[in-house]
Amino acid sequence: MSSSSSDNKPSDNQLANKSQAWSALFSEPMSDLVKRYTASVFFDKRLWAADIQGSLAHAEMLTAQGILGQDDHAAIQRGMAQIKSEIEAGSFDWKLDLEDVHLNIEARLTELVGIAGKRLHTGRSRNDQVATDVRLWLRGEIDELLLLLNALQLALVEVAEKNAEVILPGFTHLQVAQPVAFGHHLLAYVEMFARDAERLVDARRRVNRLPLGAAALAGTSYPLDRERVARTLGMEGVCQNSLDAVSDRDFAIEFSAAAALVMVHISRLSEELILWMSQSFGFIDLADRFCTGSSIMPQKKNPDVPELARGKTGRVVGHLMGLITLMKGQPLAYNKDNQEDKEPLFDTVDTLKDTLRIFAEMAAGITVKPEAMERAALKGYATATDLADYLVKKGLAFRDAHEIVAHAVKTAIGSGVDLSQLPLAELQKFDARIGEDVFELLSLRGSLNARNILGGTAPAQVRAQVARHRARLRG
Ligand code: ARG
Repeated sequence: MSSSSSDNKPSDNQLANKSQAWSALFSEPMSDLVKRYTASVFFDKRLWAADIQGSLAHAEMLTAQGILGQDDHAAIQRGMAQIKSEIEAGSFDWKLDLEDVHLNIEARLTELVGIAGKRLHTGRSRNDQVATDVRLWLRGEIDELLLLLNALQLALVEVAEKNAEVILPGFTHLQVAQPVAFGHHLLAYVEMFARDAERLVDARRRVNRLPLGAAALAGTSYPLDRERVARTLGMEGVCQNSLDAVSDRDFAIEFSAAAALVMVHISRLSEELILWMSQSFGFIDLADRFCTGSSIMPQKKNPDVPELARGKTGRVVGHLMGLITLMKGQPLAYNKDNQEDKEPLFDTVDTLKDTLRIFAEMAAGITVKPEAMERAALKGYATATDLADYLVKKGLAFRDAHEIVAHAVKTAIGSGVDLSQLPLAELQKFDARIGEDVFELLSLRGSLNARNILGGTAPAQVRAQVARHRARLRG
């Protein structure tokens, strides 16, 4: 059985040479403004490789099913190979009149191979075609993003290992709380990025399903083998309802949500890098190549890269809002609204890829200033909890110990010294059970080492986590 298109969207005899891709039904041409408004080719041409890949899988199946002849199949393969090289060479003539990537490629195919090109669209609609293309494209991008997330995590793990013993003040409410290892602090971000990767892997499963075969909305009367196409394209299954298949963009929204969270994590890290690099903190320095100067203040070195990343989080979160709102209120099945999914997705992917790449490099080049970190940790009575814990181990209830230590801290503040600088006799006024052994615990290092619990900040735990992450990321 050989046949021309079952979909009345791109009218066959107009695809190849005429300026308008529409059927004979239309009696007046589109205005230039409407053409520009409705066309997507200038952004969706980015989907060309997925479009060709999907078309070849479709053609192969049509042939296997006896719907397309061997000669037509060979012609389509030949034509597509030529189109691929034209696009790669930059010589492909993208036409606004042909509206989108799909019609542009199909028209060129027909120009190159004639009638076989006109048969390709049998049993297919641009509705299931575009949904397939976006999924194929996004699947590839997710795989790249996973590699980049992996590289960023490894870079952070590397810096964490080198700084397993370096102490900085841990904050809550941005007030000095307890000493933590700088390595431990960085590994908190590794956890975030690890969850981000998990989310992407999970979203990928739902991205990787095949809409083709749904045709315009209701399925097709041709005996297509959808499972075969799915297998050819390495997809995990076929979309099971034709109406849903052509109109579902959940996969894009889910991806966008996962991407927004990646950027939120990047933004949190950025904020810390910016604070840490400020003169008031002075905890780190970023390599010059990630910073810029000021055109008026010669002394300035500004952390532009993390600032921009923090700013770009806004657009990625914005794209999520755009996509989710795009879906709201759409009746089944395909609506042209869905053409608006592409630019936000493209920009999300571009922003994430650049940001992850640059952060992996930047993290590897951080200069850590341990003395400044430690000095800051000494300032805010960061070991007060350790004194309370000490008293609990001597038999006090924690609430009572908490109260006693509050008095001790008040006294220390009054004398302008750290808890560890109060003489033993002074400390014993708060509780007679305090002994000489308290001073080891009141030191930053004593406090750090004491938190030798799974997930805690003791250097031994940090090293154990470093090893776990390495095995996970390299394995
Ligand atoms: N350019 C369109 C899109 O991105 C392709 C599908 C068009 N389908 C249609 N029936 N007009 O969604």
